[in-house]
Amino acid sequence: MKINPYYSQLPANYLFHDIDLRVQAYRTQHPDARLLRMGIGDVTRPLPRVIVDAMQQAAEELAHEESFRGYCPENGYEWLRQTIIDHDFAPRGIHFHPDEVFISEGAGSDLGNLSELFDRDNKVAIMDPTYPAYVDANIMAGREISFLPCLKENQFVPELPAQPVDIIYLCFPNNPTGAVLTRDQLRLWVDYAHRHHSLIIFDAAYEAYISSPDIPHSIYEIEGAREVAIEVHSFSKSAGFTSVRCGYVVVPFETGLQAMWMRRQCTKYNGTAYVSQRAAQATFTPEGQKGIRANIGYYKATASLILQGLRDAGLEVYGGENAPYIWCRAPHRWDSWTFFEYLLNRCQVVSTPGVGFGRCGEGFVRFSAFANRPAAIEALQRIQENI
Ligand code: MLT
Repeated sequence: MKINPYYSQLPANYLFHDIDLRVQAYRTQHPDARLLRMGIGDVTRPLPRVIVDAMQQAAEELAHEESFRGYCPENGYEWLRQTIIDHDFAPRGIHFHPDEVFISEGAGSDLGNLSELFDRDNKVAIMDPTYPAYVDANIMAGREISFLPCLKENQFVPELPAQPVDIIYLCFPNNPTGAVLTRDQLRLWVDYAHRHHSLIIFDAAYEAYISSPDIPHSIYEIEGAREVAIEVHSFSKSAGFTSVRCGYVVVPFETGLQAMWMRRQCTKYNGTAYVSQRAAQATFTPEGQKGIRANIGYYKATASLILQGLRDAGLEVYGGENAPYIWCRAPHRWDSWTFFEYLLNRCQVVSTPGVGFGRCGEGFVRFSAFANRPAAIEALQRIQENI
């Protein structure tokens, strides 16, 4: 047996697992400490009743012979795929065939698994800082990665690659910086992909947090994107499904990859749980929409509070307006882990060290607005008193 040699090039632990280990160690040493969590982007608001009712009803159906269901289609039920098209795309003038939409157990897995479609011999460009799964998946596949620096100097929006690349990962609204792209900025990337025959993997997990009208929610709002882009969506961040598990990927026929992705899913994926698909469908009902929008509004208000609270503490902050993340420069020229440890030890506040998202994240930490509101308010008080 020979192991995949590229695994040895990965950091020892996945970022959020690494943070968990440090937090657990702190807890063991300080069993009475009341930790306030603003680290991983995990939701805290309860699901709207209509979604829970849909799951209960779906579970009940499985208890009866006449309504029992076995394997779900590998790409998801057509009623959900069509509902997604009707709701998330048609109002923006974007139309897909239901076979171009693939229901999944979540965006995280899709973003890792999509890497399987591509030859090892592809040059990949990834924003830095970035969601670590894109980097890890491509390291596992042994690919050459070039990083696109996202710095204060470029408003955390990367320049087009200096050398031609084959695959580009973009995430907007961005995790972790909270930066967004205007239509004109996104058009530059679509044009680049056409010129260089590259593919863009567009992570739209946070599109529900956009407030500004000139910010595109989908890369397909840009003409010509269907030929050059795959888009990944998550119900985790839009509807609070981090435990329910559901997401979807759009693979337009024009990319030439739709049949390949279907082939991959049929072999390696046995379909998203029926109960989760019914839950996802319920998010699109009027009551479901009302409930999830109220939760998004809650997180956005928490993001504003965090942004202001950190500013009041004299800290330099970015993001948080069209995204649930606040990107905060460490004071005193500290590095990311020093500030992370300071926040943990002095304030009992859990953040995410920016350098965990890439070298250009050094000197920053990220705060998540998915935190529970009273915890966020208390965390800000503790930070203001201790900075
Ligand atoms: C994050 O905190 O960056 C995300 O919640 C992690 C994820 O979505 O897997």
